[in-house]
Amino acid sequence: MTRSIGVDAALDPDLARLLTQARSVVVLTGAGVSAESGVPTFRDAQQGLWARHDPMALATPEGFARDPALVWDWYQWRRELIANTAPNPGHRAIAELAERIPDLVVITQNVDGFHQLAGSGTVLELHGNIQRSICSRTRRDIPPSWLHEHADRSPVPSPHHPHGLARPDVVWFGETLDEVVLGDAFAAAQRCDLMIVAGTSGVVHPAASIPVVAVEHGARMIEINPVESELSQLAEWHLVGPSATWLPRLVEILVE
Ligand code: OAD
Repeated sequence: MTRSIGVDAALDPDLARLLTQARSVVVLTGAGVSAESGVPTFRDAQQGLWARHDPMALATPEGFARDPALVWDWYQWRRELIANTAPNPGHRAIAELAERIPDLVVITQNVDGFHQLAGSGTVLELHGNIQRSICSRTRRDIPPSWLHEHADRSPVPSPHHPHGLARPDVVWFGETLDEVVLGDAFAAAQRCDLMIVAGTSGVVHPAASIPVVAVEHGARMIEINPVESELSQLAEWHLVGPSATWLPRLVEILVE
């Protein structure tokens, strides 16, 4: 049975105990954790990116092959949006949790790099990082200086291949995730005794399988989300509300 509590509820001693007794924690985050920084989520009804843009045109290798300039420009827009925003108290709270819990692994589906900016050391970025670019043919890194020199071009040619183009180092639909990152993520899920899932709809796999594996291996789960997600049934606690409120509250529990 999932126990749901809102941000106005008094601190429950069972929740406090779950957190203070945790020795190995995984925090899995999704777009909702960056929502309060001003970065839109993907699937929220009005504001979500996929409500306003076609993911098949903008986030697939086929879409990029069809119209690379459109895709490049869209990612440039998102890069600028991210550059003009900053991590929020939720990101900072996750970094603080890691100072108090000996084994804490952050796994994110986000490509904005905010966890690292907020002070989290090791972050497993399942879907890549929007600030990095790679060659579409060789997948070799393209240095920022090259992109800067070709800032007036769209699409930007690759320095590594005559027919290659610069593309963001993110995972598109139909592409496979980095094997090492994914292996580390599942290993952490198998090892942890507490899984905290924040700000994800839980519909995109394999990311959404990570909490399933954790719970199958005996972990207990806390979910933070203003609404129910595909993963809510797995959670022992559903902390209903925004992550920038709930995550700092979890830190407070550990400090008290
Ligand atoms: P979604 O947009 O699918 O889900 C965002 C979730 O965040 C929803 O469940 C919201 O209810 C919740 N949310 C909104 N505001 C929140 C807040 N302030 N605090 C906490 N939660 C909040 O985003 P993801 O689950 O991250 O993949 O999407 C997964 C993947 O689908 C993304 O990584 C991306 C996308 O297509 C790729 O680009 C490969």
